Amino acid sequence: MCGIIGFTGQTEAANILVEGLQQLEYRGYDSAGIALNDENGTKVIKTAGKVAMLREKVDQASDASGTCGIGHTRWATHGGVTTANAHPHVSNNITLIHNGIIENYKEIAASLAVKGYKAISETDTEVAAMLIDSLYSGDPFETMKEANKILEGAYGFCIMFKDHPGEIYCMRNSSPLVATVTEDGAYIASDMVALLQYSKDYFVVPEDHIVVMKKSGIELFDIETKEKETPKMLHVDWDTTAAQKGGYDYFMQKEIYDQPEALTNTVAPRLHNGHVDFSADGISDELFQGVNRVIVCACGTAMHAGLVGRNIIEAMIRIPVTVELASEFRYMNPILDEHTLVVIVSQSGETADSLAALRLANERGAKTLSIVNVKGSSIARESDHVLYTHAGPEIAVASTKAFSVQCAGFYLITLKLAEIKGLMTDEEQADFCEQFEKAIGTVEEVLKQDDYIKTISEKIKDTFSAFYLGRGLDFGLASEGSLKLKEISYVNSEAYNAGELKHGTISLVTEGVPIIAVATQSSVLPKLMANVEETKARGAHVIMVTDKDMTGYEGAFDDLIQVPEVDDRFGTFGVTAALQILAYHVTVFRGYDVDQPRNLAKSVTVE
Ligand code: M6R
Repeated sequence: MCGIIGFTGQTEAANILVEGLQQLEYRGYDSAGIALNDENGTKVIKTAGKVAMLREKVDQASDASGTCGIGHTRWATHGGVTTANAHPHVSNNITLIHNGIIENYKEIAASLAVKGYKAISETDTEVAAMLIDSLYSGDPFETMKEANKILEGAYGFCIMFKDHPGEIYCMRNSSPLVATVTEDGAYIASDMVALLQYSKDYFVVPEDHIVVMKKSGIELFDIETKEKETPKMLHVDWDTTAAQKGGYDYFMQKEIYDQPEALTNTVAPRLHNGHVDFSADGISDELFQGVNRVIVCACGTAMHAGLVGRNIIEAMIRIPVTVELASEFRYMNPILDEHTLVVIVSQSGETADSLAALRLANERGAKTLSIVNVKGSSIARESDHVLYTHAGPEIAVASTKAFSVQCAGFYLITLKLAEIKGLMTDEEQADFCEQFEKAIGTVEEVLKQDDYIKTISEKIKDTFSAFYLGRGLDFGLASEGSLKLKEISYVNSEAYNAGELKHGTISLVTEGVPIIAVATQSSVLPKLMANVEETKARGAHVIMVTDKDMTGYEGAFDDLIQVPEVDDRFGTFGVTAALQILAYHVTVFRGYDVDQPRNLAKSVTVE
């Protein structure tokens, strides 16, 4: 949520800032701005609209020179999409950008009004700028420390003080910040993708810390003790092309095509001689011993991966699994103990609701394991153990490859639990590995059907609504397929457990309404097809997406997306790729921005 970048060094800052914002635009794209601060004063250039519009304004500006600056791309929380509400915000001595939400901004604004402060914008961020200005004593560190005591909510700030030209002061309580230093200067951003072209080595600013960026380098301090700390450096093995479109029309399309590699990178290093091996992840067997129950907590797509996980764990090893929306979990007063394994799933590792769920699980003594894509992210750092997925950066707002690798993570966990609990023989484990790898291999084949799936997408492109059906594991896949379609194409799409449709929702099925039926589970295929027939009888346009042989069911559907057949346990991967391609093409036909759907942002760091 909101992209942040800061630079101070030897080279011109404006271009670095705007390029960084372009990389970060997926975090928010309703307005953007930069500010430069040097001996000649502070210059702010900002605009409502996307970073491309900011680029134009910067190019046309009479003076956008300076070697120290901050930049921001916004996802609106408080106040509409206007230039006045865009960051940076200025209050006398202070120019700042912010990621997060200041919860007590109304009280602070009221107390500052008495001192004569009057906001220009409707944002919580401008109130933070006014507060910091009102506290400013000439010592940036002390001022920030004071502000930290007053501000409630979530924040990552980059602040420039007019009388400290060439310097940037950053403060984090929860919203993410990463930083690096090269011979050209010091960089900070909300996300490593903005810094990739400068360095692959970086550190995550820990919570409740201050970073001081000067032309001479970066220093990290504990906000309370003021003690200077040595940053813990991390290395990212993504190359710069990983965060570029690489010839594809959209990031989403590229990321769909990245899946064979992402799956191989996530799975292959962990399968050895017919067994799963987590030793390189530092995940000890002890984590799984004594576990009698699993709770998956996540949001959106990651929650759907949990639905798949639940079906495979329960079906294969008979350990009860519940899947909870992270945004609900912390308010449910959940019953947790040391025999409960709470699995947090998150691509970004920064989703505020998932992080809050993790903290609650830790507090209540559950064992915690996270499935995370971004190294060093908050969820990864606060979990007992992390199973990193190796999908590389995911830029499109609609999650694709991250979902596939999260599901793969659940297959790996299932196999480990089965081994530790003695629920599978060596032969069964070896067979599991073989079928798993075979299923991953089919994704490449599904990608070859892109043009064919496009022709089916064209048939449903003008629909107002659509329904996805599935039973058991397939309901998880249908849920994810439906979310993909709705979030980017704005088709009013819902997923249903196939047997449930006739208990109400079938009243919405009329002539031509698309029904996308997912079938990877042989045991429930006849039942699913009976439900599909019920919709066909009411005029639905049925699209079957399946790896199973449909002989005998020919009259029940209008279109068939046939993916290579795999063992029933592993139908996840091929069908998922097909559903993603379908959603992608419907959106392109409808003429929408695939990568940046309205109202959304990639990483939801507010609750
Ligand atoms: O970074 P996370 O995996 O925690 O994000 C969770 C959801 O916000 C995310 O999956 C969201 O639903 C995507 N837009 C779905 O495509």
